[in-house]
Amino acid sequence: MVFIQATPLPLPPSADASKFTEFGREIKGVNPADLTPDEFIQIQELLYKHSALLFRDVSMTPEQQYALTKAFDPESESYGHGNNKTGSTKKSILHPDLKTIPRVPQVQLIGNGVVYDHEGLAEAKLKHPHHKTFHKTRIPEEDDLKFTRFYRWHIDAALYDLSPPRVTTLYALKVPRGENQTLRYDDGTGDELDVPLGTTAFVSGKTMFDILPAELKSLAVRTKVRYAPHPYVWMSNAHAIPTGLGLETEGLELPLSELPEWDESKIKVFPMLWKNPVTGELHYQVHPAGVSELLVDPLPEGAKREGALYPDGAKLTDLKQVRELLYKMQRPAIAPQLVYPHDWSEKDLVLFHNRGVLHTVVGAFAPDQVRAFHQCNLAASDDPVGPSHEDLLKWA
Ligand SMILES: [Fe+2]
Repeated sequence: MVFIQATPLPLPPSADASKFTEFGREIKGVNPADLTPDEFIQIQELLYKHSALLFRDVSMTPEQQYALTKAFDPESESYGHGNNKTGSTKKSILHPDLKTIPRVPQVQLIGNGVVYDHEGLAEAKLKHPHHKTFHKTRIPEEDDLKFTRFYRWHIDAALYDLSPPRVTTLYALKVPRGENQTLRYDDGTGDELDVPLGTTAFVSGKTMFDILPAELKSLAVRTKVRYAPHPYVWMSNAHAIPTGLGLETEGLELPLSELPEWDESKIKVFPMLWKNPVTGELHYQVHPAGVSELLVDPLPEGAKREGALYPDGAKLTDLKQVRELLYKMQRPAIAPQLVYPHDWSEKDLVLFHNRGVLHTVVGAFAPDQVRAFHQCNLAASDDPVGPSHEDLLKWA
């Protein structure tokens, strides 16, 4: 039996420690690039329990990173968005952000600045996504680099045809040092968050569910989310709201007739809540930008109708209404005290439970600040599991 040490992640002063008792562990005592089957089983359990695992000072090839990621879902093979799919779908908003490692197409090089002679890529021009390219409003030029925003809260998932990856691995190779930035929510609340330069921010989908009032828990446990076909193409002309937690409703989504060929059977309809395979807890897992409709089931027999939302069920197709409802349910969980902004060091490896957290790119870099990460996730061999009948009776 190996001794794997798992200690809580260091939290920033902004975090409410009482909400992070189970979230995040730093792992010592094993080499994640070369786990034995026994060690892997323990790591897998720790990941599903704690949502994010950090290993420091890791040396890992793209092949090893792919092997580790695949171990969580041995039947999975292609990158979360399909191998090279982002290249062929030129209109997709993900297209400029991803460069594939030629030897291991499931591993992507992401970051900022120009990287030379990197794992078979002679020259890769990387661009850290900046909110000005996606948000409707922006931080004024003179404040940029001092202030920043959450870019886009999301789950790593194609949300069409392919199933959402179980795990994403993020490996930091080059991390530019620099001053912390102040993240602004710019949503009228005055909320701000001090963040390390180029942080990746995480929130727990379990906490997102746990802190909802009873009537929204009842709605969540009864609701399914329908995503648009080719959602990243569909939303390619749309703008995000200032918190990066969804889109403005301006009628800019592409009409379905203008999308690349699509098939009704490949459209994704997922439960709003995904059941954790180890703890059985429910995680609120919705990628707000890609949603087109909400399908609400009626209350189960015997449930209390008083105060219930949509007690007889509903199909919500008005985008503005859909987005407002999602925002009301998700915004509380991205409050400053509930965000874990990871402070990257070179050779950090972070594994996160992609079906248990939401995450976002953060920060703004100057063009000469070179950042290089390897990212891997794999379209899963199955779709996430929703609430059980017992969950429904408990929460509806
Ligand atoms: Fe991501």
